[in-house]
Amino acid sequence: MMCSMSSPSAPPAILVFDSGLGGLTVYREVVKVRPDANFIYALDDAFFPYGRREEPVLVERVLDVMDGWLTVHRPDLVVVACNTASTLVLPQLRARFQVPFVGTVPAIKPACAGSKTKLVSVLGTEATVSREYTRALIRDFAQGCAVTLVGSQRLAELAEAALTGEPVSDDAIAAELAPCFAEADGARTDTVVLACTHYPLLLDRLQKLAPWPVNFIDPAPAIARRVTDLLGPADGGGAKATGRAVFSSGRGPGPGLGAALARFGLETGVPAGAGV
Ligand code: DGL
Repeated sequence: MMCSMSSPSAPPAILVFDSGLGGLTVYREVVKVRPDANFIYALDDAFFPYGRREEPVLVERVLDVMDGWLTVHRPDLVVVACNTASTLVLPQLRARFQVPFVGTVPAIKPACAGSKTKLVSVLGTEATVSREYTRALIRDFAQGCAVTLVGSQRLAELAEAALTGEPVSDDAIAAELAPCFAEADGARTDTVVLACTHYPLLLDRLQKLAPWPVNFIDPAPAIARRVTDLLGPADGGGAKATGRAVFSSGRGPGPGLGAALARFGLETGVPAGAGV
C-alpha cells in the first residue's frame, strides 16, 4: 500500500518514536533508505524506561504523547521504534490515528528460519518477553526451534549510559547477556534476537562478551524496507534528510547526549519547555 501524500514531490515527514535512544538503531536504517525525508526523532524520556511500566499505564501514556507529537509535527508516517510499545499499543494507535504506523516487534520468524541448531534466544525488556504478542509469535513461527525468552532489567539503561559516554563495565553487560546461551543434547544457541531497539547500540560489546559466536538479529533493516513499501523509495533528486530530536520532558539533552544525537545527524534545538 502506498500512502497518499499532500504533495507528490514533497519529501515525506517521518516521525521515529521510542522511549529513549534505542530507536536510533532503527532511525539510522530508515535514513539510509529515505535520505530525502524530514525526520523527527521523538523520545519519551520523561517516561523511560517503558520496560518497567504497567500495561494500562503505558497504553494511555503512548496514546497521549503520540497525540501531542502528531498534532505538532503532522508526519506522513510514524515508526514505533520500540518493541515494548509495539507489542502492546500498535492496535490502539492504529485505531485512534489516521497516519500509518510501522511497528518493531521481535524478529522471531527470521531468527527461527535461519537457526541451524534450532536453539534461539529472544533478548528483550522484561515487559516485551512477557507479552502475549511475543508468545504468539513463538507459537506461530518457532518452526521447531526451542526458544528461550530472556527479560533484561538493565540492558536498555546500560546502552543509554554507554552511548552518552558513561563507563559501563563488561561484567554488567555480560550478566544480562549470559542467560541467552543455552546448550542441549550437544547443541548450542546459535541465534539471539535483539528484541529491544536499545541493544544494537551495544552490538560490538555483545559480540565480544558472547561465550560463543552467535547471530545477533537486529530488525532495523527490515523495518526500513517496510517504510519504503509504504512510502516508496527516495525520489533520487538529491534532497538531503533533516533530523531533529524532540524530548517529552522538554528538558533537551546534556552535552553527552547532544553529542550522541549529533553523531546520528540529529539536531536538538528544542525551545525551552517545548515537550513536543
Ligand atoms: N527501546 C525499547 C524497546 O525496544 C525499550 C526500552 C525501555 O524499556 O524503555 O523495547
